[in-house]
Amino acid sequence: MAQHDATVLLDLDHDEVIGMFEQYKAAHDGSKQQLLASKICRSLLVHMQIEEEIFYPAFIRATGDKYRLEDSLKEHKEARELIARIEADRQNARLMLELEDGILHHVNDEREKMFPEARRAKGMDLMKLADQLQARKSELMAGVPA
Ligand SMILES: [Fe+2]
Ligand SMILES: [Fe+2]
Repeated sequence: MAQHDATVLLDLDHDEVIGMFEQYKAAHDGSKQQLLASKICRSLLVHMQIEEEIFYPAFIRATGDKYRLEDSLKEHKEARELIARIEADRQNARLMLELEDGILHHVNDEREKMFPEARRAKGMDLMKLADQLQARKSELMAGVPA
């Protein structure tokens, strides 16, 4: 059984990736930066996938807030496009900063708008969703080298 509700669990992922961006900016050696860049990209891809497979569908069922959902999906799409460019050009620090900007904005939208709305909504079982998110995340991460 989950220890946190789904919004708290997703926010822990957010904190983790924000911390990795900080490490990236503090790293001065190129190989460490490249390692962090690929860790950041992989964890964002897994995070977005579990949100889209599990959290967002439950959110739209409970709130009907299409505007909020579409805005989030658009931000995920922009992040995926940047991640694809970074994967083809791992030394590009400018792209990483652009990704960080986009992610900070997106995290803020989820934290300040979507998650409070989800917590107010009737009919979202946030503890059960947390279990599903956790299970799916473990499954996706199992295929990924650390
Ligand atoms: Fe998201
Ligand atoms: Fe998120």
